[in-house]
Amino acid sequence: MTQTQLAVVILAAGQGTRMKSSLPKVLHPMAGLPLVGHVLDTAAAMNPDLVVAVVRHERERVAAAIQDLAPQALIVDQDELPGTGRAVEQALEALPADFRGNVIVLSGDVPLLDAPTLRELLDSHTGAGRQMTLLSAIFENPTGLGRIVRDETGAFVRIVEEKDASEEERRITEVNGGVYVFDRVVLGEVLAEIDTNNAQAEKYLTDAAVRILARGGAIDAVATRDHWLIAGVNDRVQLGEAAHELNRRTVRRLQLSGVTVQDPATTWVDATVSVGQDSVIYAGTHLRGATTIGSGAEIGPDTTLVDCEIGDGAQVRRSEATLAVIGAGASVGPFAYLRPGTQLGGQGKIGAFVETKNALIGEGSKVPHLSYVGDAEIGDDSNIGAGTIFANYDGVNKHRTTVGRGVRVGSKNVLIAPVTLNDGTYTAAGTVVRKDVPSGALALNVAPQRNIEGWVGQNRPGTSTAAAAEQSGEQ
Ligand code: UD1
Ligand code: MG
Repeated sequence: MTQTQLAVVILAAGQGTRMKSSLPKVLHPMAGLPLVGHVLDTAAAMNPDLVVAVVRHERERVAAAIQDLAPQALIVDQDELPGTGRAVEQALEALPADFRGNVIVLSGDVPLLDAPTLRELLDSHTGAGRQMTLLSAIFENPTGLGRIVRDETGAFVRIVEEKDASEEERRITEVNGGVYVFDRVVLGEVLAEIDTNNAQAEKYLTDAAVRILARGGAIDAVATRDHWLIAGVNDRVQLGEAAHELNRRTVRRLQLSGVTVQDPATTWVDATVSVGQDSVIYAGTHLRGATTIGSGAEIGPDTTLVDCEIGDGAQVRRSEATLAVIGAGASVGPFAYLRPGTQLGGQGKIGAFVETKNALIGEGSKVPHLSYVGDAEIGDDSNIGAGTIFANYDGVNKHRTTVGRGVRVGSKNVLIAPVTLNDGTYTAAGTVVRKDVPSGALALNVAPQRNIEGWVGQNRPGTSTAAAAEQSGEQ
């Protein structure tokens, strides 16, 4: 006896006209993933033997994105025959001939469906021994969706598309969510019989229902109370609403796991982000991509982190960072701009109005004020004086700067790369460092100060400065 197999078919061939976009609908981003990425994640969580994605509109772009997110997925091209029924028919043709078992059908534009709900639907389907089970919901305003027609006993009769429905049928509030489980063999047989004789001249997947019933098969629609699970995205209003709801759920999940979120309404967290216990997220914070935050950290307000790794107990205030690693107990901001390749060691500091890029900054080292640190390595326990610039670009090429351990760079230095300040060195304020500095040395190249007596009176007569000098001279 062969084990029951499971395939998930994801429909992603439609155009998405109402998005009014040059980007295919299923590739519109939401919470760090394209819409179809959320559906691929849900599919993967079911541990299916096979995932099949059906594509047509902008085929190359959609297929490439799916392949990138789910390399195992099988891409199937839908031909010119329109309709969800045709899409599934072609997906079934791509399954191995000996595939026996269940086929789950999902839409690429229904991003909030979750794996536990789908698992319940599959269990209900197999438990009751049906040939078709679908997810439905009660919608106060069901406009545009297929309606579930039931008889006087409440038994499932058929699905009718709005465009084909009678007045009476349009008043039905139980709608088809477009999420189904089918027996593969039965579905394959009935799809071959379905025509395009309907208001949209399409081959409807929903027409499989009456034919399965006609051959004595069992069908039911299982209603979910959470209508967001089947919310489709057809235009940008619905995209915004679905994104808002997913964010609300993500923030709530963080809160319940022990994270304080000061202002959920202005906090945007991608589904892919993790935050440790007892961390605090202040208002206006965006956490995106593969960002991970340790425990007891404080992030925000008004901070955006993209693909960053923030250590336990670190603080990032009013700053923007991409692909940066911040050590435990370190402090960033306010108003810091951390570009890719920034790594700040534990207990280190990147302070106000500092920009960094490809910069490895050691444990306990500080860049406290008004600096640019690019293409540099700074050892542990060093301090970079206020207003220091790492001049990494000679107009043609970028060069690296190395600053050792325990170094004290004076205020307003320019370090002209390539250059090395060895361990235990000082530089004087205003130094332009063009040559390597040996350990133990103080580097300075600012001209000794000369005071030219009477210069102001001679060169700036009649100014307030000259008046002040004159008054001071009288005393
Ligand atoms: C479909 C259902 C409707 C249900 C609704 C739920 C049918 C006939 N109707 O309607 O009962 O209430 O979903 O959202 O199935 N697609 C293809 N190839 C096609 C056509 C569509 O792959 O030829 C894909 C689309 O990209 C989309 C999904 O199938 O991901 C659903 O198609 P869509 O046109 O949005 O179906 P609805 O008219 O919304
Ligand atoms: Mg349609």
